[in-house]
Amino acid sequence: MRRRRLPIRDMAPTSGPGVTTPGQVAECLTLPGVTLIPMTHQDLEAFVDQEVADYADERVFDGTWSRHDAPERARAQLVRVIAWEHEALTAERQRLLTATDVNGERVGWLWVKLGPPGPWSTSAFLCQMTVPRPFRHHGYGRSMLAALEALLAGEGISDLRLNVYESNLAAKSLYAAVGYRLAEQYPTMRQLQKTLSGGLDAGVQSSDPGPVSVG
Ligand SMILES: CC(C)(COP(=O)(O)OP(=O)(O)OC[C@H]1O[C@@H](n2cnc3c(N)ncnc32)[C@H](O)[C@@H]1OP(=O)(O)O)[C@@H](O)C(=O)NCCC(=O)NCCS
Repeated sequence: MRRRRLPIRDMAPTSGPGVTTPGQVAECLTLPGVTLIPMTHQDLEAFVDQEVADYADERVFDGTWSRHDAPERARAQLVRVIAWEHEALTAERQRLLTATDVNGERVGWLWVKLGPPGPWSTSAFLCQMTVPRPFRHHGYGRSMLAALEALLAGEGISDLRLNVYESNLAAKSLYAAVGYRLAEQYPTMRQLQKTLSGGLDAGVQSSDPGPVSVG
């Protein structure tokens, strides 16, 4: 699937995530529609498998490991993260979400931690987002972020942060393109922040957020 760039006058609707106003730019992207739903155990396994494959590829690419044993070494090194992701399935202040496209196909996964509960709880941390390799560069990452931001803003969260490795050019480029700003600089990674505004009117307040769609 290829994304089309349309003049803004040809686009509908005229507001909402992924839609800019005429005063901002002369054209904007048509984003593929995604819906965020709670992750199943099966989705989690697919998410972890893709995460391991990506990590193995990075280490092969930077010359650290051989292609032969990279998958095994990657899984061994990520064992703690994988355990945290399994815990997140049932943890109260965490969300594991699957993004589906308009045909119900899985096009990505998100892992988010919400800040501590209470009336001043306005922060969340995006621990991971992954688009399965065959679906990359079709706009799904951008759509998933827009849907997530809408979901969180609807719950009163205004501060979304994430860490990204300096070497991860694709992710850095994506976050910069959709308005994430430098919050902290570390030796090999940076923390980015976005202030969320607006939000959904729909009832997305419970620990089961229900489906949230964008696009
Ligand atoms: C990072 C990731 C989520 C992006 O998802 P995606 O669906 O491919 O991204 P999109 O198609 O929505 O691209 C949106 C923008 O991201 C940037 N981008 C995406 N892939 C890129 C690449 N390979 N190189 C450079 N920029 C890239 C571009 O700015 C792009 O906008 P453009 O198409 O107008 O140029 C995906 O590559 C991925 O899952 N990577 C592995 C996991 C990961 O690194 N997650 C982030 C952890 S912090």
